[in-house]
Amino acid sequence: MIHLIKPNTSATKGFIGSSFGNKIGTALSFGNANFEQEIRRMGPNEEEVKGRICVTGAAGYLASWLVKRLLSSGYHVIGTVRDPGNEKKVAHLWKLEGAKERLTLVKADLMENGSFDDAIMGCQGVFHTASPVIKPSSDPKAEIVKPAVEGTLNVLRSCKKNPDLRRVVLTSSSSTIRIRDDFDPNVPFDESSWSSTELCEMHQIWYSLSKTLAEKAAWEYCNENKIDLVTVLPAFLIGPSLPPDLCSTASDVLGLLKGETKDFQWHGRMGYIHIDDVALAHILVYEHESAKGRFLASSTVVDNDELVSFLSARYPSLPIPKRFEPLNRPHYDFDTAKLESLGMKFKSIQEMFDDCVASLVEQGYLPSVYL
Ligand SMILES: NC(=O)c1ccc[n+]([C@@H]2O[C@H](COP(=O)([O-])OP(=O)(O)OC[C@H]3O[C@@H](n4cnc5c(N)ncnc54)[C@H](OP(=O)(O)O)[C@@H]3O)[C@@H](O)[C@H]2O)c1
Repeated sequence: MIHLIKPNTSATKGFIGSSFGNKIGTALSFGNANFEQEIRRMGPNEEEVKGRICVTGAAGYLASWLVKRLLSSGYHVIGTVRDPGNEKKVAHLWKLEGAKERLTLVKADLMENGSFDDAIMGCQGVFHTASPVIKPSSDPKAEIVKPAVEGTLNVLRSCKKNPDLRRVVLTSSSSTIRIRDDFDPNVPFDESSWSSTELCEMHQIWYSLSKTLAEKAAWEYCNENKIDLVTVLPAFLIGPSLPPDLCSTASDVLGLLKGETKDFQWHGRMGYIHIDDVALAHILVYEHESAKGRFLASSTVVDNDELVSFLSARYPSLPIPKRFEPLNRPHYDFDTAKLESLGMKFKSIQEMFDDCVASLVEQGYLPSVYL
């Protein structure tokens, strides 16, 4: 099902940060448990019309949560997908509350020049999340690095053509910060740190290389072209998958919960965050007019061994691996004070895995005996 864009520029009053942003702040001060209730209360009504936001890669794991949150807070969402006619990939989006009234799906591909022009034209905000999150293949530079970097520039060129644009929020990654060998393990990483692209190449960490180069390219392009850019750098996402087919990240988590060590072994130490918090963080930095620069988003940083010992204690009937081989990598932590200063409160590791396990059972990936 393809819905065509009907630009409605009268639908926006001023930067959303002023009145609505304050409400988000209030909602956050209630704590995340009440956020859904609060955002529903703030949902669409005649007096408070929200703007139009383009979400790239809308059917993905994270982007689906973004679309859900944007719709529930009253925005019009223009989602880009590679194949809007693929019912299996987009059906979950059409089931979201508000989708029938305020969601439009448009075909766009990162590797086609000008492909995002139609989707982005008339939008005040662009949330660029589309990027390959796939296992390394025979040609990782062509399949992972190139679409991430060139795709980001392609999206930004469309943004430049759009006179209604106010802000671009780019989904980057905490892996653009922590791949280094020259840091003090006693000082937590913050947004001032950049991963070493040389180290990424040397160790063939293609995903981190792709995200680091893409974010750097975005900053350079936006600075040169005076585009208001804010980036969100999420840690590893945990939580329910809205798409019924699991993406690479969600499949790795399912593997771990079923006793596999293969995909988590190389993670070593990792930051984790609830997927809903990442969606919320994007909206938060979009709506706070004063938000500038990069925002690291992570709830808890743990070693693999700590993670499996927590998981085994919490879900004793799941066949969680007992331990991982030590990787002899330096300790690190994350400093997320910048995002928290906007009012962000992160869900705990218990909440993220409880929600994740419950949804995997509900979707039939884990037997209900595990609930
Ligand atoms: N997963 C994590 O733990 C994590 C952590 C930090 C940051 N992130 C970032 O979050 C974003 C979303 O990741 P995700 O975990 O939600 O993965 P995902 O479900 O695989 O989503 C990736 C999206 O990118 C789209 N995409 C890939 N190549 C494309 C191309 N050539 N043209 C158009 N679209 C393309 C995919 O579209 P199709 O649906 O058409 O395949 C998909 O919607 C990415 O930027 C990722 O780097 C993820």
